[in-house]
Amino acid sequence: MPEEDATLELDDIQSGVLRPRPAPYVATYIAFRIDDAKAGRELMARASRVVTSAANPTGPLADTWVSVALTYQGLKALGVPQDSLDSFAWEFRQGMASRAKELGDTGESSPENWEQPFGTSDVHVVLVAVSPDKEKLETALDHARKAYQEMTGIEAIWRQDCHALPNEKEPFGFRDGISHPAIEGSGIPGTNPGEQPLKAGEFVLGYADEMGGVQKTAPELLGRNGTYIVFRKLHQRVAEFRKFLQSNSTSPEDQELLAAKMMGRWRSGAPLALCPFHDDPKLGADPQRNNDFLYEADDPAGFKTPGGSHIRRTNPRDASIAGVARIHRMIRRGTAYGSLLPEGVLEDDGADRGLMFAFVGAHPGRQFEFVQSQWINDGVFFGADDDKDPILGSPNPNFTLPRRPVRKRLQGIPRFVVTRGGEYCFMPGLRALRWLANLET
Ligand code: HEM
Repeated sequence: MPEEDATLELDDIQSGVLRPRPAPYVATYIAFRIDDAKAGRELMARASRVVTSAANPTGPLADTWVSVALTYQGLKALGVPQDSLDSFAWEFRQGMASRAKELGDTGESSPENWEQPFGTSDVHVVLVAVSPDKEKLETALDHARKAYQEMTGIEAIWRQDCHALPNEKEPFGFRDGISHPAIEGSGIPGTNPGEQPLKAGEFVLGYADEMGGVQKTAPELLGRNGTYIVFRKLHQRVAEFRKFLQSNSTSPEDQELLAAKMMGRWRSGAPLALCPFHDDPKLGADPQRNNDFLYEADDPAGFKTPGGSHIRRTNPRDASIAGVARIHRMIRRGTAYGSLLPEGVLEDDGADRGLMFAFVGAHPGRQFEFVQSQWINDGVFFGADDDKDPILGSPNPNFTLPRRPVRKRLQGIPRFVVTRGGEYCFMPGLRALRWLANLET
């Protein structure tokens, strides 16, 4: 059977890769350092028994899962041979901190200011547990804890708890988790009826991708059914964002319109593409309609959804841009952390809040890094060379709102999002976890 027709081996793929997270959710991220290769391999053996697969899981913890991912340094610490290490994606081998300049992680966001242990070579394994409620999360974590507690040679060195904010909103107040691509063979539908499902090889190693290539590692089994995961802890300056909206608007309605223009959606999730003048909370909450739109035929110049808005930049859909959007698509699995800044508060309360951003894809270079550097932190691709993403471009983006009779231009927008750390990881298939457990180098 040609590789292109291969059905996805869901029972070997970790569930965190393909299945959308529950809504609402609670989640915990734990990072480990491996001080002893043997202990690290034992951890992989135990993890392979705790991790759930993307095949329809049944049982009381069906909607709860534990995923395990490793950094390049982690694979090294397990004793993976050099020829295998060399077969992984180049960006993954460099690590996120080494890619700071390309990612716009400069100034306050630069690795020397990151939360420890990010930016060091100590982060080896990242465990993620996601569940619809605290009780089930604790049960899942208990299973996981049994796998690593009382093991010498493994140290849990960092933890982040996350939880859904009301109405699935992220800390700036916009509904999140709406737009997801469909993946051939996954059985999990995408949310935009206008987008053809993407080849599985865009997201999982060992399958044909949109360019006709198949990502493989040495040995092939190590990479097959695995994927890259990019974790980024992104601190959000909510008070700063609110103050900016207020000082650049003439009325509360105008403020909401500006926020929507920057994001491409009203805070309810309703897209400007479908309701450009007023919010429509019913539409925002309706998964059958809230992602059913394209740009080119209806709004080529961005009068409804500005070309520079966050969602049109990060997924231009069918809009005319330099390049092909389909090879830069990504699965997002972000979760919010920290408390909500109460409505109306304009002063920073000093609390840490934001998103644990998680990207999933088989091509970290042409997917995550490309979107971050070319679409978020540049504007050349749609003809606005000096503009950046107004929500998270760095350091001080400009933003253009196409308008009649004259466009509106906002310059030197403050930095609303600061990178607090992150890592490039590889999330192996379940067979590969067992292969890692049985390494004998
Ligand atoms: C704190 C930082 C961020 C915030 C507050 C944020 C917020 C949002 C929100 C509210 C949406 C619309 C809801 C949805 O479609 O699910 C969205 C969509 C999206 N974001 Fe972000 N985001 C952040 C960072 C990022 C980063 C770092 C990337 C990529 C490198 C990214 C890529 C995307 C993509 C691809 C979409 C879907 C666009 C579409 O298909 O229409 N976001 N984001």
